[in-house]
Amino acid sequence: MSKVGEVNKLKVADVSEVVEGIGKEVVIEGHSIALFKLKSGKIKAIENSCPHKGGPLSQGIVSGENVFCPLHDWKVCVNDGMVQGPDEGCVQTYKVDVDDDSVYLYI
Ligand code: FES
Repeated sequence: MSKVGEVNKLKVADVSEVVEGIGKEVVIEGHSIALFKLKSGKIKAIENSCPHKGGPLSQGIVSGENVFCPLHDWKVCVNDGMVQGPDEGCVQTYKVDVDDDSVYLYI
């Protein structure tokens, strides 16, 4: 772990553990976070709790840059955390860094 301003940079996974199209949950300092690898190879991190009723987004079905909540199918963008219409809301997003084979989050 290293400090960047008031934010901690933490290793949360190996790159090989994050598979395209399949969410991965990590729990960091009490925060449940969902990691997703996009087709482009970019890794995104969002809060692992749907703004509707707290469904585990890491278990949702990934389509492009969105994930569908496994409980009631709300569609959440993994880039900006925004719920896509017709529903409304958002989840927290986390800045991701990939260094060699490691995935880091700024928490
Ligand atoms: S809890 Fe996610 S859509 Fe209902």
